[in-house]
Amino acid sequence: MIIKEIIKRRSVRDFRSDNVNDNMILEIIKAAQFAPTGMNNRAIEFIIVKDKAIKEALHNIAGQSFLSAAPVLIVPIINGDKSITPVQDISIASTQMMLQITSLGLGTVWKHLQDSWVVKIKQLLNIPANFILINILPVGFPDTALPEHSDTEFNKNAIHYDKF
Ligand SMILES: Cc1cc2nc3c(=O)[nH]c(=O)nc-3n(C[C@H](O)[C@H](O)[C@H](O)COP(=O)(O)O)c2cc1C
Repeated sequence: MIIKEIIKRRSVRDFRSDNVNDNMILEIIKAAQFAPTGMNNRAIEFIIVKDKAIKEALHNIAGQSFLSAAPVLIVPIINGDKSITPVQDISIASTQMMLQITSLGLGTVWKHLQDSWVVKIKQLLNIPANFILINILPVGFPDTALPEHSDTEFNKNAIHYDKF
């Protein structure tokens, strides 16, 4: 059976203004820190952004209004001197955060970052040069309920047995 968070998780881009309490954020970070990392490097750190002016600056750099509208932004960053698999490590940790966020009744969406935005974001958030970032997860209570995933999306044609 598929766990309910996988069925319920949808990309949430519209958030209510209600605050997200700090304990919820810590539970979300814990979900990331329980994720596997290449050679168990555990080199991921997190910037939690709540400041309105910083959120607006991120919105200006990377577009998409949820960056300023969501009550909290989580920016996972990873030390590139410690991780040999930085993109995979952040991706797996982010997936676990997305499922934990769903389980808390909150919503998020993977905000992709282009290289030119990363340069500006590192400057804005004082992120050291040797850290890598690929995404931002906004966190908040969803403004509207989105339909859950269902078996209509299950594509048996994508499966190949033994050879393509
Ligand atoms: C690697 C990756 C990058 C994405 N980048 C963005 C993005 O920059 N902005 C956005 O609104 N959604 C982004 N998404 C969300 C996808 O559009 C979304 O997952 C997809 O449409 C499926 O919808 P669902 O998440 O509700 O199932 C991204 C998703 C992934 C996995």
